[in-house]
Amino acid sequence: MSLMYKMGTSLLRRLPTERAHVTTVKLLRAGLGPKGGVITSDILKTEVGGLQLPNPVGLAAGFDKDCDVPDAMLDAGFGFVECGTVTPRPQAGNPQPRLFRLIEDEAVINRMGFNNRGLDHFEMRLKARAGQVGLVGANLGANKDSDDRAADYVQGLTRLWGHAEYFTINISSPNTPGLRKLQGADEMEDLLGRIAETRATLSAQSPSVPIFLKVAPDVELSQIGRIVEQARNYGMNALIVSNTTLDRPDSLQSPHAGEGGGLSGQPLFEKSTRILAEFAKAAEGKIDLIGVGGIGDGAQAYAKIRAGAKAVQLYSALVYHGPQLVADICADLEARAKADGFKTIADAVGADLK
Ligand SMILES: Cc1cc2nc3c(=O)[nH]c(=O)nc-3n(C[C@H](O)[C@H](O)[C@H](O)COP(=O)(O)O)c2cc1C
Repeated sequence: MSLMYKMGTSLLRRLPTERAHVTTVKLLRAGLGPKGGVITSDILKTEVGGLQLPNPVGLAAGFDKDCDVPDAMLDAGFGFVECGTVTPRPQAGNPQPRLFRLIEDEAVINRMGFNNRGLDHFEMRLKARAGQVGLVGANLGANKDSDDRAADYVQGLTRLWGHAEYFTINISSPNTPGLRKLQGADEMEDLLGRIAETRATLSAQSPSVPIFLKVAPDVELSQIGRIVEQARNYGMNALIVSNTTLDRPDSLQSPHAGEGGGLSGQPLFEKSTRILAEFAKAAEGKIDLIGVGGIGDGAQAYAKIRAGAKAVQLYSALVYHGPQLVADICADLEARAKADGFKTIADAVGADLK
């Protein structure tokens, strides 16, 4: 890493959190990001939910809500980049401050509330990169004031169909009141039914792409089997486990620990990995899993894979370790797979469940 780059990241860390993020995205748009390119190897190449990945490490949703810098993030080495959450209409989100660094805990609390520029902008940005290599997914959400939230997901799918390599149905953000209710049995039945119908219609026009469902870590263990079954019944291609948590573990040290919103980063690792393993047991290999939550190094990415994830995503650790982290994790995953006698990273999936 160059000295200039190190100086840049340490300066960014001193800015108020949201301004630092906006500045980072601007710098990336101006082409000032890392330039390593997508990382791949015979060991790292893998597949999840029908998506062929050059490596299993993805950028989680929320970093690039408006799809402004997907190619810059692919250049940082990610195997796939998830943009969004995008809602049909633009919305401002919650009042600032709404993003907090819990430095002592290597964590983040956010209550952004789906601030984004809406589908028009997102579609324009996706179209602008047509023909570029690299996997970019669209994470779909619902407007806060929507009367029919399921209709918002259908609208997102319809508008962006043919422009994104995959879609994520995000029903697990804690910052849009009532959104997580869509994880309930009846609401999920209605939502997934309408998604499946829309997909069937759209697939007649252009080839189908994978659709993933992103869930919260704060689910009752008794709900997991039912969520897996409904997701399978309606043809979801993978579950993303998980979004941020409303928990505030006693271990938190930061003065910001009491802020409202979703907690991510290190304090989320243990819980999200435990829930991932529960989903893996319930899934019995019949639906794929993507592990997210608190990944800050290769060991933690590998632990998610051994717990049953075919791919992983991360966000919060970028705030603390910078984009070099992606290459470090990929190198470490290769070394760990080899040390355990696996030919490819895919052979390590679910190793701890057996
Ligand atoms: C500032 C911030 C904004 C986020 N926004 C979204 C979002 O819009 N949609 C979504 O599905 N997840 C969002 N997330 C959740 C992340 O995608 C991820 O699931 C969670 O942060 C756990 O991963 P991490 O510990 O590696 O950050 C956001 C996370 C953070 C920190």
